[in-house]
Amino acid sequence: MEYETPLFFRVMAYAADADRDVIDMVSGNPDWEPPATLREGLREYADFDADRFQYPPSEGLVELREEIAARRGVDVEQVVVTNGTGEANYLAMARAMERDAGSEIVLTDPVYPYYPGKTTILGGEQRFVAAASDGRLDPADVREAASEETAAIVANSPNNPTGAVYPAETVRELVAIAEENDAILVSDEVYDHYDLSGRFASALAVDSAHRIVTSGFSKSLAITGFRVGYAIFPPDLVANAKSRHMLVNVAGSRPAQYAVLRALRETGPDYYEANRELLRDRVDAFTNALDAAGADYTRPEGAFYVMARFEGYPGTLENVERLIDEAGVAGMPGEAFGASREEWLRFALVTPRVEEAADRLAAYFE
Ligand SMILES: Cc1ncc(COP(=O)(O)O)c(C=O)c1O
Repeated sequence: MEYETPLFFRVMAYAADADRDVIDMVSGNPDWEPPATLREGLREYADFDADRFQYPPSEGLVELREEIAARRGVDVEQVVVTNGTGEANYLAMARAMERDAGSEIVLTDPVYPYYPGKTTILGGEQRFVAAASDGRLDPADVREAASEETAAIVANSPNNPTGAVYPAETVRELVAIAEENDAILVSDEVYDHYDLSGRFASALAVDSAHRIVTSGFSKSLAITGFRVGYAIFPPDLVANAKSRHMLVNVAGSRPAQYAVLRALRETGPDYYEANRELLRDRVDAFTNALDAAGADYTRPEGAFYVMARFEGYPGTLENVERLIDEAGVAGMPGEAFGASREEWLRFALVTPRVEEAADRLAAYFE
């Protein structure tokens, strides 16, 4: 079997190796600071007794699971702390597949490329539902694609790459469609702290034995390198997921979980609001410059990506590499996110130089 290896690391390496100054807008690595309390937690950890350098409980530090459970309004037994949201998504999709209630996984197009790859390694069939050009997802289209063959529907809001934030009604419908087809809605909410619209709706608001919520701290605390995420399972589905997590990983990183716990307990809402404000400014600066360049783009309601289209310049890997070499701006090829975005490029707003990047693009395409 051939796996579909996502292109992110390849494009980042190409940009890093370029023989010129490149503005890196490839990755989803925030360039803003984590909370100060997270650094303090890490420092504190270095001086703990050596017994705290040994295995944590496999499903995560109990205090961290309790903190997550309290914040999300669920029972602590439903929470599994994972190696990032990536593992949480894998556990959730695997759990849906092993119910033997279908082997298709319904995904959106455009899609976060790790979902189709995970579908393949789990032996599932990919089935795509097109999102609208602004990223909105029509539940009627999902209902049409779903059937008794459906094991899971994977949805992501705020969305990477489109920036769409699904309204509560859409999320409710997605849970209902999972129920109607004896499937599982996997709701990836990793960008929940970057809702710029004020409309974000968590799938946890809809009580159901047919939805699993995944999230993590890579984005909300600006620590993609720490690898701390979590999944919230319905009570009847959690046991196998904990076993799979243990069999694959043994456990997650204990110092990272401790530092996240301290940051959660001691960080106020101002931290998150300041980062949203920073992003709002960057969205304005980047899209204003894109306007001036005459490019098409989607203005994100959340997350931190902008998809843009330049006349006569499709979003292929080759064109992305050319843009790095000739314009000094690195983005992701739209084709990596699905057939519907082959003409587009995706830019991550993770640099203070977003305006300069858009100016470079404007000059290049003039
Ligand atoms: C939609 C989505 N889900 C999951 C992840 C992975 O998150 P983590 O670093 O928590 O594994 C990303 C990272 O970019 C993402 O965009």
